[in-house]
Amino acid sequence: MNTTAKTTEYPAPKIIRSVREMQNLCLALRAQGKRIAFVPTMGWLHDGHLSLLKEGRQRGDVLVLSIFVNPTQFGAGEDFDSYPRDLDRDAALARSTGVDFIFAPVASDMYPRGYATYVNVEGLTEVLCGASRPGHFRGVTTVVSKLFTIVQPHVALFGQKDFQQLAVIRRMTEDMNLPVDVLGMPIVREADGLAMSSRNSYLSPSQRQQALVLSQALASARTLVAAGQRDASVIRDELAARIGEMPEARIDYIQICHQSTLQSQDVVDTDSVLLLAVYVGKTRLIDNGFLFDRTSGRS
Ligand code: PAJ
Repeated sequence: MNTTAKTTEYPAPKIIRSVREMQNLCLALRAQGKRIAFVPTMGWLHDGHLSLLKEGRQRGDVLVLSIFVNPTQFGAGEDFDSYPRDLDRDAALARSTGVDFIFAPVASDMYPRGYATYVNVEGLTEVLCGASRPGHFRGVTTVVSKLFTIVQPHVALFGQKDFQQLAVIRRMTEDMNLPVDVLGMPIVREADGLAMSSRNSYLSPSQRQQALVLSQALASARTLVAAGQRDASVIRDELAARIGEMPEARIDYIQICHQSTLQSQDVVDTDSVLLLAVYVGKTRLIDNGFLFDRTSGRS
């Protein structure tokens, strides 16, 4: 992975821990007429995150990165405790993209004693990752709405790697009339096709090899569609067989869905997205892509 921090012309980002300090600063920046671009993350930055930051740098006068491993979006038995954390490493990488402020709050400041308010998007969150990770999106929308209120961004950038998350955040932003432009950015992949993810660091060398089956499945599905196949169940069966050949792979879901409703489709059309979640060993990996060629990778 090519994430080594380079010598750079940018100054070191200022790290802010306090919710109140971050909010006051952002309110003051807005009052000065500055345009705030915001990239929320859970840290352990890779080139996928950096692509959002580079785009954010172009789109705002001030670039804010948040790093917060958000406890409310992890279920019992998930990897909250083992999620990789290294603020110094992340700060060096963030500097290479021109981040001005890193907001890295502690959980007790984000969710103080007595905290009782959650934001929940209905419908879109009950399928796909929402079905296998109950409560996950409620945690995501809660933290993202809090972060939007604290950082007051004009534009916020998210990756299409988490396709359902992006759809859910768009829905929340629109439904709650939040004055934020949500921008979706293309998936950044390793040279061999594996979608970059902080969780890839959990994979053993053999699992790392087997993990290629996700992007390969996506490529096979596109080949089938290009050859005229439109029957979603035929495509899903072919992919399931292929993924099943990997000794440590276990399918969570393979779905072909409409890009905006996320409802599963029986017949592939130009709005169809293939979404995959596969455990490789204990690591849950996701990937997705449109099944027809599309001219623009951005939405
Ligand atoms: P995290 O997994 O750290 O991802 C932060 C952002 O980076 C998300 O918008 C995600 O879609 C994007 N991203 C991750 N891998 C990517 C890749 N390979 N290519 C392009 N973009 C990629 O997603 C979260 O954190 C959290 O749920 C969060 C939104 C911060 C709320 O806690």
